[in-house]
Amino acid sequence: MDGAVRDLPILKRDAEGLWAEASDAMTALYGDGPDFQSWLQTVRALVDAATAERSSTLKAWDRDNPRWWLAQSAVGYSTYVDRLAGDFAGVSDALSYLDALGVTYLHLLPLMKPRAGESDGGYAIADFEDVNPALGTRAEFRQLLDDARAHDIKVVIDLVCNHVADDHHWARAAQSGEAGYRDFFHVIPDRETVDRWEAGLDEVFPVSAPGNFTWSHDLEAWVWTSFYPYQWDLNYANRDVFLAMTSTLLNLANQGVSGFRLDSTGFLWKQLGTSCRNLPEVHRILAAWRALLSMAAPGVVLKAEAIDRLEEVVPYFGSSEHPECDLAYANGVMAGGWASLALGTAGPVRAQIAGAALRPVNGSWINYVRCHDDIILGALRPDLSRSEQARAAEVLTSGAPGDFGDGEVFQTFDGVPSVNGMTASLCGVQGDAFGVARHNLLYGVCFALDGVPVIYMGDEIGLANDTVYRDDPGRVAEGRWLQRPVMDWTAARAALHGAGASRPAAIASAVMTYVRRRGDHPAFRDASPARIIPDQPDAVLAFARGGDRDRLLVLANFSAAPATARHDRGGGWRDILTGRTGSGEEVDLAPYQILWMEASA
Ligand code: GLC
Repeated sequence: MDGAVRDLPILKRDAEGLWAEASDAMTALYGDGPDFQSWLQTVRALVDAATAERSSTLKAWDRDNPRWWLAQSAVGYSTYVDRLAGDFAGVSDALSYLDALGVTYLHLLPLMKPRAGESDGGYAIADFEDVNPALGTRAEFRQLLDDARAHDIKVVIDLVCNHVADDHHWARAAQSGEAGYRDFFHVIPDRETVDRWEAGLDEVFPVSAPGNFTWSHDLEAWVWTSFYPYQWDLNYANRDVFLAMTSTLLNLANQGVSGFRLDSTGFLWKQLGTSCRNLPEVHRILAAWRALLSMAAPGVVLKAEAIDRLEEVVPYFGSSEHPECDLAYANGVMAGGWASLALGTAGPVRAQIAGAALRPVNGSWINYVRCHDDIILGALRPDLSRSEQARAAEVLTSGAPGDFGDGEVFQTFDGVPSVNGMTASLCGVQGDAFGVARHNLLYGVCFALDGVPVIYMGDEIGLANDTVYRDDPGRVAEGRWLQRPVMDWTAARAALHGAGASRPAAIASAVMTYVRRRGDHPAFRDASPARIIPDQPDAVLAFARGGDRDRLLVLANFSAAPATARHDRGGGWRDILTGRTGSGEEVDLAPYQILWMEASA
């Protein structure tokens, strides 16, 4: 396949085709309600108004950037605004750095006006119409979007669509008994009914926020709170909630954001007697949003944040005929990479990559090594036993001799703790001699896979854990602050030019090599899935990318011992990362070494 954007077979629909798709999904969800047809017309009027209001600049941008996330050169960067650069103006200033790093899309973690006080790192939104005043004004945010467009960097923001803060005006209206708003939430007066729901549910924060319901004195009832008690789950069975969030989505799209990370996608629908995760109705909501957004703002991407087992995540792409999210987080591959590194065996990551290949052609993975949340190893069940998961968590956190990771345990699920920590610390850069090699191995695999690689802020220079939160009474109870450090700009600017301390420079050099080779090697023009090459030693992950002519073999040794990988390259080969060459069907890999091998003449 030629050209910068890799083409995927998605049915092209005109506005009426898209409307038919959205109407089908909305009929399945709300068709039984009173005056459904006139409600449907309200949605249509909303989308038509958003289409008309979209600026000519953004319409031109839509035309010029169809499915921009499929570009061979697409590289993401995920960060909090304040941790990267203080405020919106600071991020504007940081754009040239991101540009030089090769970043083409910037995911900014929640930036809308959060709840006063604790806000789950900004994931408790008090107002979707306003930005967090600590980060700047709305005008400064708009300026950042313009500046990013000038750098050809797409800005993706979080749309926290599952819940709002308890001080959002919908919640306040419910608290003060305003008609219609109680039904925006799941409000249950009696404990007995709550217990019946609870019987099917898991807990997200079993330690810091046990249970899924919170008593509200104002409502004199229990309110559904999957996350923290101040994050009230929205009731999507109420079509007014769907309409209000659709309006929010369209408004923000028209301000010039290039996409949305749909937070906690799996939780949007509740049904008694189920786990209330990933229900069919969630998929209908997403199919409707995709179609409505395609009518008004076709260049805008939707990303599913479904942190679950692979078989639950794949359906979030929908299909070519009924698309849902364009991108989804490959959290299984991410967790598999960490388990493989911890256990010294490629098995866990191999199984996840093989499973990830089953995605439909209209969807692409977001590949990542770390993010602002904890690593949940339970996503690897049933391939990885609970004791193996627990052992992996131990290697990443215990600090015992031989356990290289310097992370912290977070929540425990089914006896297996999830893990916090920055990549560098979890790789043990301050411990044994292999830390940098482990870091480069994980990022090397991430960049070689099909999909869009996303760098987590600070990883490009191997920023270590931020332990300051332990002394901050406002943050000490929330261990995920460990992986939300403030950017070290002196180190970052030096490392980008190969200068400064040796560790940041070595890591930055590896990351930039991955960015460049991924951008220029013909194998990465092909968006088809990575193909596992079997019959390798236990520690070796081997997969192929690209077509027959330009095939690239990726060989990665996940153990601290040397390993010999096998391949069918036969004649000569060349590692495009280092220029190393060789021949024959076996290749020796140093501990934690990764090669991207092409055939050489
Ligand atoms: C997502 C976010 C996480 C947050 C949760 C609740 O999983 O990534 O940080 O706590 O949603 O909004």
